[in-house]
Amino acid sequence: MLKLTDVSRQFGGLQALLQVNMLVPRGRVVGLIGPNGAGKTTMINNISGLDHPTSGSIAFMAHDITSASPHRISRLGIARTYQNIRLFGEMTALENLLIGGHATSKSSILDSLVFSRRYRFEERTMHERAMAMLARFSLGNLANSRASALPYGDQRRLEMARALSTNPMLLLLDEPTAGMNPIETRALGEQILHERDRGLTVLVIEHDMSLIHQVCDEIYVLNFGQIIAHGTPDEIKQNPLVIEAYLGEDEDEHGRTAASA
Ligand SMILES: Nc1ncnc2c1ncn2[C@@H]1O[C@H](COP(=O)(O)OP(=O)(O)OP(=O)(O)O)[C@@H](O)[C@H]1O
Ligand SMILES: [Mg+2]
Repeated sequence: MLKLTDVSRQFGGLQALLQVNMLVPRGRVVGLIGPNGAGKTTMINNISGLDHPTSGSIAFMAHDITSASPHRISRLGIARTYQNIRLFGEMTALENLLIGGHATSKSSILDSLVFSRRYRFEERTMHERAMAMLARFSLGNLANSRASALPYGDQRRLEMARALSTNPMLLLLDEPTAGMNPIETRALGEQILHERDRGLTVLVIEHDMSLIHQVCDEIYVLNFGQIIAHGTPDEIKQNPLVIEAYLGEDEDEHGRTAASA
């Protein structure tokens, strides 16, 4: 479904990605792990069109999206969340979802000005869909809470709900459980598996190895911009190159190293 071929991204003298080859098959949950600064977020930025490769190519379905805009990539069916949560803090949880829905609305500005039947129908449908999505993430009773007032874990789940409200085929998650406790993390893992069972394909960056082991069918390991390993969670756990890459790293913000988790 998604294919990266020899993707490199250079920032001045820094090689953030070097000749990355990666395949995300339809209906799979693929993990992307690696030490801090390995290039994981850069990879998701390049796939989602926020940034572009210096060389190499990225294909999604039959489309070459190497230099496509974020808007076009989103229309093609790729959605993402951010390592640093990007919600509209002053808006309610519900409004944050409706904003995403308006991007795919068929009503024109004229429709909304004359408050046409189509516009009213779409408004109602979008509202119902947004409420259903919030309920899917156990956020239904928080629909009218201000996003910035929500606990951290709820904000992360709201971001994921918003990403899914565009009805994507591929979801890119950048550290979705950062700041969550183990119970919230486990529940989010179950949610990811549930969405996969509904047909979603997922690429997930995560430092929490318990989540990676819970949800991933396969894992890619990035180190200094290069893929150093690819395999099943069990294969990756035993890979000496991976263990070495992590041993050179201090403990992450959760006080764990990947090799010890
Ligand atoms: N826009 C940019 N300009 C210059 N350097 C950048 C830019 N974006 C990322 N980098 C550098 O590229 C490298 C990879 O960064 P990236 O954010 O992709 O790492 P990461 O694997 O997501 O790390 P973390 O686990 O800490 O989130 C880092 O050295 C970073 O400083
Ligand atoms: Mg990152």
